Amino acid sequence: MATFLGNIRYVAWTGIALALIFLLSYAVVGQGRGLTDYNVIQAFLRWSHVLVGIMWIGHLYYFNFTQIPNVPKIPEEHRGPAISKVIAPAALYWFRHGAALTLVTGILLAWNQGYLIEAFTLGLSEGFATTKHVFIGIGMWLATIMFINVWFVIWPNQQRALNIDDRFPDLTKEARAGHARTAMLFSRTNTLLSAPMLIAMTGAQTLG
Ligand code: HEM
Repeated sequence: MATFLGNIRYVAWTGIALALIFLLSYAVVGQGRGLTDYNVIQAFLRWSHVLVGIMWIGHLYYFNFTQIPNVPKIPEEHRGPAISKVIAPAALYWFRHGAALTLVTGILLAWNQGYLIEAFTLGLSEGFATTKHVFIGIGMWLATIMFINVWFVIWPNQQRALNIDDRFPDLTKEARAGHARTAMLFSRTNTLLSAPMLIAMTGAQTLG
């Protein structure tokens, strides 16, 4: 058991397999729905969307609540390369891929429910006929802005600040500090936007 739990790949894939077995036993075996049933697909998409959303926002909160406020408390001579060369690049990997998968599954979820265009135009394309589409559309735009910040601002700046994969070896210490600050400010912006974004994500079904 310790060997199994000691391997994150085994644990993650087993958790995913258990979730899918549960979904299939309940909806397909129990309720007799087909695999291509609209609700089965939607349940699968909702689950995968929230799962990868946690991967993304979990890392965003790790950076903002744990890493950024606490690294300066470590005396400079003890900091070493552990965080900048190992922990932060690994966290950034799951962070940005979590963001991409959240965007893709979110778009599929809206498409599956037939309101992708309506939501992204904030209801304009249908003359504001459905308030739910305006509501979820605001959440989708907030999350899309957050995604753009991750891939086009935070990641490129962190690559330069931490010299990830040794792609920017010639930058000065001051230039790196500037990139680190830009990444931090946009990361903070995403932390700020995450709460209102989640009101739309979680409230759309209830209030829409
Ligand atoms: C990146 C762009 C995103 C898009 C396009 C998007 C899109 C959507 C859509 C269309 C829904 C279904 C709403 C409904 O009809 O009830 C939804 C639900 C949801 N989303 Fe997102 N989303 C995005 C980002 C996020 C993020 C970052 C999170 C963070 C965890 C998140 C968490 C959720 C949750 C918890 C639900 C509710 C599921 C439910 O009530 O069953 N989404 N999202």
